[in-house]
Amino acid sequence: MNIIFQDNGNHLDDWLNALKKTLPQANVRVWQEGDTAPADYAIVWKPPVAMLREQVGLKAIFSRGAGVDGILQLAANLPQGVPVVRLSDAGMGIQMAEYVTHAVLRYFRQFDSYQTLARTADWRFLRPNMRAAFSIGVLGLGVLGQRVIQALQHFDFTVNGWSRSPKDLPGVSCFSGRENLAAFMQASKVLVCILPLTEETKGLLNRENLSHLPQSAYLINVGRGGHLVEADLLPLIQQGRIAGATLDVFSEEPLPALHPFWQEPRITLTPHIAAMTMIEESVVQIAAKMQALEQGMPITGVVNFSRGY
Ligand code: NAP
Ligand code: GLV
Repeated sequence: MNIIFQDNGNHLDDWLNALKKTLPQANVRVWQEGDTAPADYAIVWKPPVAMLREQVGLKAIFSRGAGVDGILQLAANLPQGVPVVRLSDAGMGIQMAEYVTHAVLRYFRQFDSYQTLARTADWRFLRPNMRAAFSIGVLGLGVLGQRVIQALQHFDFTVNGWSRSPKDLPGVSCFSGRENLAAFMQASKVLVCILPLTEETKGLLNRENLSHLPQSAYLINVGRGGHLVEADLLPLIQQGRIAGATLDVFSEEPLPALHPFWQEPRITLTPHIAAMTMIEESVVQIAAKMQALEQGMPITGVVNFSRGY
C-alpha cells in the first residue's frame, strides 16, 4: 500500500511514527512538489492543488481534520470519483465538549465579571443568571455537536439544536432548515456554531440572523471563520445586543495583528485549538478505514460533495 502524506510543518515525525506503527506494511512517503508517482491513499490537511490534481489510481483522500472545506475548495481539481474521508471524532469530541462547556459556564457563572471585580479587591455579589433563561442553541448536530450537547446536559441547561435534516435527540428541542433558523435563534441565549463550512452555511452568522438572538446573548464559534461575518459582530457587541463572544476560528488565520477583535475585551480569542487533531487516534481511525477499503468493505465519514460535508 502506497500512501502520500502532506507535511504542513506540524509534528511530521509523530505522524510518520504513528503510521509506521499502525500500518507497518505500508510505504509512506512525504509528498514533495513535483511528485506525481502513483499512490493508493493521500493523507492531507488543506493540501496544495498540485498534490492531488495529477494523481491517478488514488483510492481515497483522508482528511486530518473533521472539516473538509480546505479539500473541497479544490473540488474541480480533485481526481474524479475519489472519495474524501473526514475524521469522525477521533479524540476531538471530548475537546469540543470541554471548550464549549468552559465558555458557557464562564458566561453563565459570570467568572469574567468576578475576575474584573477581583482586580480592584471588590467583594460583591452579582445577580445570578437563571438557568431556565440561559438556553443554549447548538448549530450543527453532527458528531461534535451531539458530543457538546451531551456535556451541556450534565448541567441541566435547556438545549436547542439546528441541523439540515430533521433530528430527534433526547432532551433537545430540534430545529432544522433555514425556515426554522429564526425561531431557533430566538430561543437561544448562547449560540454555539459547530457547523461545517459549505456554500449554504458560509456567512450564516450575519447581522440579520444574529439579530434574532435574545438581548445580551453570547456567541461561541468553533465551526469555521467563514461562518461569521466579522464586520457584523463588532457593532452588535458594541451596542450590547451581543454581550460577549468566544471565537476559535477566523476568516483569516492566523488572525492579523491589527484585526479589531484583538482590542475588544468582550471577545475572547483562541488560535483554532477548540478540538485539535490527535495523531494516535486519527492514525488508528484512518488505518482501519484503509484496511476496510482494501477488503472492499464500506466505511463511514465519506464526504458528500454536493452537500459539502
Ligand atoms: P458532522 O458530523 O458532519 O456534522 C455536521 C452537522 O452540521 C450536521 O448535523 C449537519 O446536519 C449540520 N449541517 C450541515 N450543513 C447544514 C446546513 N446547511 N443547515 C443546517 N445544518 C447543517 O461534522 P462534525 O464532525 O460534527 O464537525 C463539524 C465542524 O466542526 C467541522 O466541519 C469543522 O468545521 C468544525 N471543527 C472545528 C474544530 C476546531 O478546532 N475549531 C475542530 C473540529 C471540527 P445533518 O445532521 O442534517 O446532516
Ligand atoms: C479542525 O478544525 C478540524 O476540522 O478538524
